[in-house]
Amino acid sequence: MSITLAIDVYGTLIDTNGVTSALAKHVGNAAADFSRTWREKQLEYSFRRGLMQNYENFAVCTSNALDYTSSCFKVPLSGEVKNNLMDAYKILPAFNDVKVGLAQAKDFGFRMFTFSNGSNEAVEALLNHAGIRDYFLDVVSVDEMKSYKPNPGVYSHFLRRAGAIGGNTWLISSNPFDVIGAISSGMRAVWVKRSPEAIFDPWGIDPTLTVHNLDNLAELIEQECKNK
Ligand code: 2OP
Repeated sequence: MSITLAIDVYGTLIDTNGVTSALAKHVGNAAADFSRTWREKQLEYSFRRGLMQNYENFAVCTSNALDYTSSCFKVPLSGEVKNNLMDAYKILPAFNDVKVGLAQAKDFGFRMFTFSNGSNEAVEALLNHAGIRDYFLDVVSVDEMKSYKPNPGVYSHFLRRAGAIGGNTWLISSNPFDVIGAISSGMRAVWVKRSPEAIFDPWGIDPTLTVHNLDNLAELIEQECKNK
């Protein structure tokens, strides 16, 4: 049976720190810290909405997190600036290694899907903007389940949508909570450790593989499958 890849979007294919230059105009030297807090709060809000069963689309988590971060950094943002920053989030760049990594995985015959907290519409726009949409058979969003990663239900939903089974399906993600969620749901998973400082959560559930970028991803997965 062929290998299916469920590839995470924000932080894995697409660089959420790409908003830093747009932020620098408003928050100066604090742009990198602002961007980090914005992203952390966005994810926290998705976890909380999932737990509270109070689903709103990921763009609402992003927008609420921007409001929180602007208060936290004591940088009031006008409606117009906020709209500009939210627009910048819709056209975030892909990491440099992404096209080569996806092209290699396609040559290996892997069935590739994106799998994201982002809505189908938001992810389609990002992929098209980055010129990588054609590598994917389809875009799968948690929005179809009205819940968020790492609810086990969203990983089962992915398998149903992709017509795949856990043992032949690999989640590819830079987000440790996503990797742990996928492995706990019977999938295999690659942690993309995009920064040397990134720490994997010490839960005793390890990624099947760890890479630093997507360069040799397909080759490493193929080798791992042959060894097992
Ligand atoms: C994504 O689902 C977790 O934000 C990450 O794209």
